[in-house]
Amino acid sequence: MQNVYFLKLDFNINDHDLSMLEKTISAQRVEYAKQYHQRKDYIRSLLSSALLYYALDKNGIDKKDIVIERSPTGKPFLKNLENIDFNITHSGDWVACVIDSNNIGIDIEQIKDIDLTDYKEILTTEETDYINGKLENFYQIWTLKESYIKALGVGVYKSLSSFTVEPYDKHYAKVFQNDNDEKQWYFYNFNLDEKHYCSVCSQSKISKEHFNFLEYKSFYKNFR
Ligand SMILES: CC(C)(COP(=O)(O)OP(=O)(O)OC[C@H]1O[C@@H](n2cnc3c(N)ncnc32)[C@H](O)[C@@H]1OP(=O)(O)O)[C@@H](O)C(=O)NCCC(=O)NCCS
Repeated sequence: MQNVYFLKLDFNINDHDLSMLEKTISAQRVEYAKQYHQRKDYIRSLLSSALLYYALDKNGIDKKDIVIERSPTGKPFLKNLENIDFNITHSGDWVACVIDSNNIGIDIEQIKDIDLTDYKEILTTEETDYINGKLENFYQIWTLKESYIKALGVGVYKSLSSFTVEPYDKHYAKVFQNDNDEKQWYFYNFNLDEKHYCSVCSQSKISKEHFNFLEYKSFYKNFR
């Protein structure tokens, strides 16, 4: 089992539609989304939860069996469903959710015109050489690194400069690390659109045939 769901957001969503979506996810996830006071952040958070519920439903998991807890390092997981890992990401105009029977992580970043020198501490020499001052290369490396730490579930507890990601053949990458992680990891990375970059990291090969792209208008109909 491996499925990846991408949802392009519509920030003009009205309050009626929002309250309809709130009823379809757990009260805990609604409260979590409400911590965001900026409307766009709230919409990203709520829709990423709705996308998770949609993805789990498509993979045969009943809503009543969905209990989300967090590991000590912050990774959300499904209580009582140890054979399923999931991960969500939200940035800019997109939210995404991955479901897998192995550990999996996903990261989307909105491409912004940032000063790359601010990020040199988190990069290894090999990554800095690869980036070569190019913004798109930076976002490729950044999302690859984030997708890896999200698959591991270690969050901010792992130093980002303790491992190197190395892209190859346009969409693929390898990871080299200093510690004793013996697992085999696979990556897939690509431009989601001209303003967003995305990477997925899993313990099994990632096939883009399992990528599902959803538009808000058709997605919303699932909840009526
Ligand atoms: C929280 C973190 C896991 C991802 O943060 P992010 O890229 O800002 O946010 P994303 O939207 O991609 O992902 C957020 C989701 O990841 C999940 N998440 C949180 N902690 C996680 C962990 N330890 N492992 C895996 N997933 C995690 C959650 O579902 C979260 O969404 P929610 O809070 O709505 O439930 C963490 O890696 C982080 O803070 N990273 C920033 C560190 C940094 O400096 N990176 C620089 C570039 S390499």
